[in-house]
Amino acid sequence: MRRTLAIAALLFAASAQAETPRDFLTRFEKEAGAAASAERGARFFTSKQGGEWSCASCHTDKPTQAGRHAKTDKPITPLAPATNAERFTDAAKVDKWFRRNCNDTLNRICSAQEKADVMAWLLAQK
Ligand code: HEC
Repeated sequence: MRRTLAIAALLFAASAQAETPRDFLTRFEKEAGAAASAERGARFFTSKQGGEWSCASCHTDKPTQAGRHAKTDKPITPLAPATNAERFTDAAKVDKWFRRNCNDTLNRICSAQEKADVMAWLLAQK
């Protein structure tokens, strides 16, 4: 009995950590309280908003392809889950990089709606 409980707890912990790209879309839509728009996400991702960079400056406007850091020139693996299975599977990583990249790009954090839109667009990439 106790063993069954321990295994159940382990399984639960594992499933709580392993997230899929769709889970992030659902989470951001819930936080925004509105449906995502892939079209708005594309526009957001590829245009500069006052700063020196857009998201596409490092990730390119074709997120199924590898990018390059606009400053250090270091290669960045594709952001689209269709061509990079490691993307959007770890909440700590996703939150950290959204925070850092939005600050670098917009001088502010991204809203839940913006993150939902970007997710919808990235998920639509084949
Ligand atoms: C100055 C270059 C640069 C810009 C501009 C940039 N990024 Fe990034 N991004 C990176 C780097 C570097 C990483 C981390 C390395 C990696 O994961 O390949 C990263 C990782 C990410 C991740 C992590 C995804 C995951 O699960 O692995 C997300 C999400 C992300 N960026 C979104 C954005 C968005 C949205 C924008 C625009 C608001 C943006 N980035 C602009 C360089 C950039």
